[in-house]
Amino acid sequence: MTTIAVIGLGTMGLGIAQAYATAGLAVLATDAVPKARETALDRLRASLALRVRSGKLAQADLETLLSRIAVVDGPEAMGRADLAIEAVVERIEIKRALFAALEAVLPPDAVLASNTSSLSVGAMAEGLARPERLLGLHFFNPAPVMKLVELVAHPGTGAAALERARRLTEAAGKTVIPCPDRPGFIVNRCARPFYGEALALLEEGRGAAEIDAAMLAAGYALGPFGLIDLVGADINLAATESLAAAMQGHPRYHVFEALRRQVASGDLGRKTGRGFLYPETPDPAPDDAIALRIEATLVNEAGWLLAEGGTMPDGIDTALRLGLNFPRGPFQILAAQGREQVLDRLERLAAQAPVHLRGRYQPAPMLAR
Ligand SMILES: NC(=O)c1ccc[n+]([C@@H]2O[C@H](COP(=O)([O-])OP(=O)(O)OC[C@H]3O[C@@H](n4cnc5c(N)ncnc54)[C@H](O)[C@@H]3O)[C@@H](O)[C@H]2O)c1
Repeated sequence: MTTIAVIGLGTMGLGIAQAYATAGLAVLATDAVPKARETALDRLRASLALRVRSGKLAQADLETLLSRIAVVDGPEAMGRADLAIEAVVERIEIKRALFAALEAVLPPDAVLASNTSSLSVGAMAEGLARPERLLGLHFFNPAPVMKLVELVAHPGTGAAALERARRLTEAAGKTVIPCPDRPGFIVNRCARPFYGEALALLEEGRGAAEIDAAMLAAGYALGPFGLIDLVGADINLAATESLAAAMQGHPRYHVFEALRRQVASGDLGRKTGRGFLYPETPDPAPDDAIALRIEATLVNEAGWLLAEGGTMPDGIDTALRLGLNFPRGPFQILAAQGREQVLDRLERLAAQAPVHLRGRYQPAPMLAR
């Protein structure tokens, strides 16, 4: 019987446990906090009960699903796991200590996976006896619903570990996209210009409502400000700052003052009742140039990631469609608009860029003439 171990039973861990249990796999789950262990199955039961009530899940299937998950006291009780996934706090020393504890009890071929959003998987592998079996499995929130999982290989990850992680995660119904151990992986990185270029437009005097309206008209389910308001300006700022630091402050990851000011104001979005746009709605008078400009920068960022290796155009497109619900990926945009058009827009933006954005629009190698 294949067994998945999940460590950390917060938002992500509980959802990850549910995803594998739904697929019929046995799950061993634990958390450092006793209360989190004691309440885990009740929390899951409560969230699944909503699905039973709406007729999406049979009561018997709920019971079967829960019976596949065993909560145990700690990593020492996870010795029969084939794949162990951690979803504990985002601190590298805690993740490293956890992997060391798991290594001591797991069979030599068991795979170790981190659900980190922002830490280097390679840095986590340092000090492990078998670094070749460590990789990243980056789930999206809510994990039982979101189809995408980024499969992150660090330079020393072995093919056997990648293959097992992929097979088991695909069995859980996920679309698994390989990606390199680079800051932000695919989605969190390639999404940056969606927000950043919208903030650049705001800085130039355009309104949040017209910018979002332009993106809705171009087929996006939410505009950049609608998305920031949904997730929270504080969360967006943290992700932007983390990537800017990891990329040595490159202007493609510029942290716009408007975003900092928004967070300082306390109007973080839906959760506080007011955001960049919320509770207003996008203005219905779109300007095509806005969407073409934001999409040109999305194409360029994807081009820079592609140039770093470890990923493919199709994978990047799929990741952005599934991870952000984008109507099309950057390489589909490139195919539809043509290289000359995209390049022309970037060159015009570069020519007009203010000092703090110089270098932001330098075309990726795949676009260069
Ligand atoms: N929340 C998201 O949207 C999201 C999305 C993708 C990835 N992630 C990543 O997933 C991980 C978990 O995030 P979360 O939002 O579920 O956090 P969370 O705070 O909801 O849950 C973390 C859980 O880990 C437990 N924990 C902490 N240290 C532990 C240890 N040493 N051993 C066992 N359990 C421990 C905590 O008690 C808590 O229950 C982080 O690495 C985060 O970056 C989060």
